Amino acid sequence: MPARGGGSAIEWTGADSRDADVTDRKAVAALVARVRPDAILHAAGYTDVAKAESDRATCWATNVTGTRNVADAAAEAGARLIHVSSDYVFWGGEDRPDGGYRETDPVGPVRNYYALTKLVAEEAARRAPEALIVRTSFRASAWPHPSAFDDLHTSQDYVDVIAADFALLLAHLHEIDDGILHVVTERKSVYDLIARRTPHVRRGSRTDAPVALPEDISLNADRWRELKGRWT
Ligand SMILES: NC(=O)c1ccc[n+]([C@@H]2O[C@H](COP(=O)([O-])OP(=O)(O)OC[C@H]3O[C@@H](n4cnc5c(N)ncnc54)[C@H](OP(=O)(O)O)[C@@H]3O)[C@@H](O)[C@H]2O)c1
Repeated sequence: MPARGGGSAIEWTGADSRDADVTDRKAVAALVARVRPDAILHAAGYTDVAKAESDRATCWATNVTGTRNVADAAAEAGARLIHVSSDYVFWGGEDRPDGGYRETDPVGPVRNYYALTKLVAEEAARRAPEALIVRTSFRASAWPHPSAFDDLHTSQDYVDVIAADFALLLAHLHEIDDGILHVVTERKSVYDLIARRTPHVRRGSRTDAPVALPEDISLNADRWRELKGRWT
């Protein structure tokens, strides 16, 4: 999503995979050259965590090569890059039994292939001189499964909650330094989050998932809370 303008006059315009395939370096460069944005919110990604294990080439091409292409195009255009990253860049286990990873904590090792590509994508994003890496996590409001993991702790929230936070962040982009920012809410189990809007959901276990998942991947969002408090 590229943007023109600065401060409160910022205007955002959407772009999706029909406008440019992020794995196509020339197509990304051409789109950015046409729009000439001041900032780019890069949210395109390969997000099927289970399928990524058997479709590694596509996952890498989309998440790592795609981010590199967007970062290089942003650098070429002098645009600020806001890269959407993930809590999965952390291990989320016995190294931190109560989670709460901070922006300054070392990342990795990772649990699965999707997580690896998101970790490497952060390095690719840094090819843009003014990169803001936003680690987040969110769920759709409608829960499609009969159960939700009660042994996986997270600071994720519903997409409408996180999207509102992103809107606030983008409105104050010029007040945020480059680097890393965690945009999430409080620590809870996935089950506790899902039960808020789907009261009849059953308790499940992350060990039933077809892919290795962390135990506690919650992020510390003190810095985001402080910024949000200043703006609301
Ligand atoms: N959901 C989470 O909890 C979570 C957590 C942390 C980080 N994230 C990150 O947040 C971002 C958005 O995730 P999401 O959950 O909203 O995923 P999503 O619903 O699967 O959306 C991914 C988007 O990426 C686009 N895309 C995929 N391959 C592309 C390509 N080659 N070129 C251009 N666009 C492409 C898709 O477009 P098409 O539909 O047209 O293919 C889709 O619009 C991703 O970077 C993801 O890693 C998500």
